[in-house]
Amino acid sequence: MKDFSIHRFLELAGGVQVDDLDWDLCREVGVTDVEARILRYMSDTESHTLLYMRDLLAGHSTRDPEIIQFLSVWVYEELCHGRAIDRLLDVAGHPVSEDHVAKVAQNSAMQEFVEAALSQAAAWLTPRFIAVHMTWGAINEATAAAAYQTLGERTANPVVAKLVNRMARQERRHMSFYWHQAKKRMEGDRITQKLVEHAIKRFWTLVGSGVGGSENLGFVASHLFGEEEHRRGLRYADQLISGLPGMEWFDLVTAQTQQRARTWEQKFGPATFRTSSKLPDATQVA
Ligand SMILES: [Fe+2]
Ligand SMILES: [Fe+2]
Repeated sequence: MKDFSIHRFLELAGGVQVDDLDWDLCREVGVTDVEARILRYMSDTESHTLLYMRDLLAGHSTRDPEIIQFLSVWVYEELCHGRAIDRLLDVAGHPVSEDHVAKVAQNSAMQEFVEAALSQAAAWLTPRFIAVHMTWGAINEATAAAAYQTLGERTANPVVAKLVNRMARQERRHMSFYWHQAKKRMEGDRITQKLVEHAIKRFWTLVGSGVGGSENLGFVASHLFGEEEHRRGLRYADQLISGLPGMEWFDLVTAQTQQRARTWEQKFGPATFRTSSKLPDATQVA
């Protein structure tokens, strides 16, 4: 993977660009109910990035200037992702209810609280724990990039495709930061590698499973990644993470997504990803 430069990252930093998007076209084409529910899950996850940042700011990571600089920008970029998706859903006729954010935060409160307490305690215990946070972050960013990229490939709404591709690019930059931070802490250090392996195997779950809701996660897993041909992005995410020292075993992004999809389908039946009927599906055009 290409080296990461914090200076370059700060130069490129900023909220995802939305002002040049063709919002009239977006309204005209619209999004399907399936796309809307997938985008809602993504927005809920993005909008609650601050909860994750609270954990990251615990313990020894606060003494690392590069991490502090990165997080200052990162949380803003994620917030802008959430706002951009909300705007898109609003324009496309799926506005968010006023009490939605409070409801989501309430639903996730207990799980997030327990996770935060555990993670903060561990972070104070050993500086090695930063490597766990960094690996965790790399996995989540790689998963987010895969989700946006896949939605971009599947949607028939060109404005949705443009926006999610822009966000995927930013997620890849975030991923690069976490990945390089994790790598430099794990290289040649078997204890840290074992700590990361244990923590990820024991505690990691797909991004958003707390705030986005378990059932919604199953829905996204089944509709977006239900077929093998649409899991390329997930496999690539696994491949990137397995390139970290001691992480050769890693395949959890694909494995957990498939598991979630299966569980959802057992309960609700087979999933169908439908794109908007107002434009021809790009894959059907000769
Ligand atoms: Fe994001
Ligand atoms: Fe991100």
